[in-house]
Amino acid sequence: MATINRQLVLRQRPKELIAPGDLELIQTPVPDLKDGQALARVKYLSMDPTMRVWMAVDTYLPMVGIGEVMRAVGFAEIAESRTPEFKKGDKVVGLTGLQEYTVIDPSEKARAFQKMPGIPFLSDSAFLGVLGITGLTAFFGMEIAAPKKGDTLVVSAAAGATGSIAGQIGKINGCRVVGIVGSDEKCQWITEELGFDAAVNYKHADWKEKLAAATPQGIDINFENVGGEVMQAVLNRMNLFGRVVLCGLISGYTKGDPGMASFGNVLVKRLRVQGFIVIDFASRFMETATKLGQWKMFGKLKDRETIVDGLEKAPEAINMLFTGGNIGKTLVKV
Ligand SMILES: NC(=O)c1ccc[n+]([C@@H]2O[C@H](COP(=O)([O-])OP(=O)(O)OC[C@H]3O[C@@H](n4cnc5c(N)ncnc54)[C@H](OP(=O)(O)O)[C@@H]3O)[C@@H](O)[C@H]2O)c1
Repeated sequence: MATINRQLVLRQRPKELIAPGDLELIQTPVPDLKDGQALARVKYLSMDPTMRVWMAVDTYLPMVGIGEVMRAVGFAEIAESRTPEFKKGDKVVGLTGLQEYTVIDPSEKARAFQKMPGIPFLSDSAFLGVLGITGLTAFFGMEIAAPKKGDTLVVSAAAGATGSIAGQIGKINGCRVVGIVGSDEKCQWITEELGFDAAVNYKHADWKEKLAAATPQGIDINFENVGGEVMQAVLNRMNLFGRVVLCGLISGYTKGDPGMASFGNVLVKRLRVQGFIVIDFASRFMETATKLGQWKMFGKLKDRETIVDGLEKAPEAINMLFTGGNIGKTLVKV
């Protein structure tokens, strides 16, 4: 009997948060493998804010078509292989999609499957978090920021997958690091566990005063994940010739607006603003993941995961990224 694959397909484009009916769970038989292909069983799926963007607009990748399996990065294990490139048991990361099984054709470069090494002290899920796309994003964003000892760095969405690593890289580089987050529990985690110098909860009415108190020397680097009002408050406190690394603008993703703050500060303070997309650095992923792994092994980087059980819960898990229900890297265990 054919193995059954469960898949989440895009049925309609979400208006705000993902609503019932936007993604539909379907069952299809796993196709027979052709020569040159491998079958992988998905173990973990990375939940990324950009998935909500992929559902609705063309950006750096085309939006997902209606009726297609929803695009997602996943960690999978080769279950069967008819290609010399993979053998049974190999662990891979790539664009698996929101499904339980995926057929990999190594000639299909766009899905970017890469074999992952087996490292005893690392869990499989780390290849989607601290050593995966979000850890790499934090690393390359901080490289663009060019931190110097004594700089004040402010990171927004600082208890999330990317922000929590970016802030710790700031500490490794000798910065004073301040995180902006949406709960007191997150403030506590990033200061007490991750070593941030201060944290500000943007849901408190006096948060802008708290941000000013936490950045007495102004701000030299803004690692921006949120945009909108949060970014505006940070820009207002930037020092002359500061650097703004535009990593994400999550406050706008469910509203269909870019979540951008005003450019007045950029002009008057002569700021350098640089956006980036992590896939631009793909040729350096392996060497950088090794470095992140060493930092983790020596206790310089700490990470945390929010793991949601079951493929069918993926829509809820994506929404958590926008309601702030997650801490650290958000994953679905398939
Ligand atoms: N440029 C790239 O290549 C690249 C790659 C990966 C990710 N990113 C970007 O990096 C950012 C973080 O992504 P991630 O995967 O690490 O997710 P994440 O930070 O783990 O989760 C998103 C967090 O954003 C915060 N947030 C959501 N809506 C907000 C709002 N309206 N105002 C303020 N905070 C809000 C929430 O935390 P609170 O509870 O603190 O509100 C939530 O936990 C996103 O903007 C994403 O698009 C960019």
